Amino acid sequence: MDIRSAEFVSSYTTYKDCPKSKVPEYAFVGRSNVGKSSLINMLLDRKKLAKTSQSPGKTQLINQFNINNNWYLVDLPGYGFAKVAKSVRKDFSKLINEYILNRENLICVFVLIDSRHDPQKNDLGFMRWLGENEVPFCMIFTKADKLSSSALNKNLKNYKKEMLKEWEALPEIFISSSEKRLGRIEILDYIDNLNKTIKI
Ligand code: GTP
Ligand code: MG
Repeated sequence: MDIRSAEFVSSYTTYKDCPKSKVPEYAFVGRSNVGKSSLINMLLDRKKLAKTSQSPGKTQLINQFNINNNWYLVDLPGYGFAKVAKSVRKDFSKLINEYILNRENLICVFVLIDSRHDPQKNDLGFMRWLGENEVPFCMIFTKADKLSSSALNKNLKNYKKEMLKEWEALPEIFISSSEKRLGRIEILDYIDNLNKTIKI
């Protein structure tokens, strides 16, 4: 899919403020600092459309982008802060969960996982919750440039093994690097195919 246009629509503090829409929408979710906003910029070929930061907690709202005037992409806050003191943590779970459960034109949630780490409880728990609520999702392993291909393969294998302990089948899996532009074509093609088949 070519990105002909990518425009920021608006930011919302709750799903209730998002205007009802009939265009397919895709959301990017994951732990804080996993690379959601960077991946969105890489996919859209726009360096600073989604705000990124080295410190966790940069994205704090539901940020909606209009792509090619025929689908919406949503950047969400992270769930959980790795390096921030408890006193300044803000829990975005309610905002994220309510948005996911109530957004009628949401087609698929992309769950971002840092490819460097072992399976984390909060990521597994989040995907379990998606499954329980019958929300379609894919996984994207991010920051693949930060580890060797053998370490990446080992972590992937380990993650799949962990997932298969509670899932009958694995979701669609992508590997990405915003630095190296890895995964861009695969993720955009996947969205393109869904856009062609889905009727809202
Ligand atoms: P929150 O908005 O805080 O939830 O974070 P986020 O998930 O949107 O992460 P963000 O895109 O802001 O990236 C966090 C940090 O990771 C930044 O310093 C990015 O430059 C870095 N980063 C993101 N993706 C990649 C990647 O693919 N490779 C490398 N090497 N660094 C990355
Ligand atoms: Mg962000």
